[in-house]
Amino acid sequence: MRLITFEEYKEYVKTHKFVRIEDEEVKVGEPHQVKDYQPKDFALETTTVWSFPNRGDWATHKGDYRGNWAPQIPRNLILRYSRPGEWILDQMCGGGTTLIECKLLGRNEIGVDINYEALILVLDRLNFTYMPLDLEYKEPEIRAYQGDAQKLDLIEDESIDLIATHPPYYNIISYYKGKKVEGDLSFMRKLEEYLNGIKEAAKESYRVLKPGRYCAILIGDTRKHRYYVPISFKVMQQFLDVG
Ligand SMILES: C[S@@+](CC[C@H](N)C(=O)[O-])C[C@H]1O[C@@H](n2cnc3c(N)ncnc32)[C@H](O)[C@@H]1O
Repeated sequence: MRLITFEEYKEYVKTHKFVRIEDEEVKVGEPHQVKDYQPKDFALETTTVWSFPNRGDWATHKGDYRGNWAPQIPRNLILRYSRPGEWILDQMCGGGTTLIECKLLGRNEIGVDINYEALILVLDRLNFTYMPLDLEYKEPEIRAYQGDAQKLDLIEDESIDLIATHPPYYNIISYYKGKKVEGDLSFMRKLEEYLNGIKEAAKESYRVLKPGRYCAILIGDTRKHRYYVPISFKVMQQFLDVG
């Protein structure tokens, strides 16, 4: 794992106007015009089926990172399963949806992604000032690392209060154009290879999570050669197998 600092981000945006996530260019380095810092009509989900037909766009949330999750999902997880000041981990953090929510909700966060340009985007999306009137709000510590979810070598055992993460759905979406990055779970050719990688990530999750706390995963299924592939079931099994 390598910490990507805000200073490194500032150096990057001096010479780059965008990051490239596979084929898509996403702008970085421009000031954000934030209209609303919090959702207008948010209510905690109360059933086991969550549905968000309109993804949230408060603060710096945008739907322009390939396959990012709606901010309502980490918001529900964070509010339900953690308290202000606790440590949240998203070890496949993509464009930083979870980290933005941690900043708004006063939770400390460690975000990790294997893709360097995703981390630049994360720091860009966190580059806004948030000073709520709420006297209980304490500005959290938020760290972004380039690294592999299968080897969280800078995170201590039993130090995390909640894991909220959203792994690649096998190789449905690619985040790098053409080149294979060692350990990238979105680039595995064989399902067994992908599931072995998920199992390693699950072992690391179990190691860093405090006993009795929650690990929440968003994952979906796919089709291959006209056959349904129940990825979500298989991923859940890897997590259950390690603890
Ligand atoms: C579905 S996206 C996450 C999107 C994120 N929830 C968001 O809202 O932006 C999955 C992410 O996993 C990352 N990834 C793939 N293999 C990884 C690994 N071994 N370790 C860490 N990140 C990995 C990809 O680069 C991609 O950004």
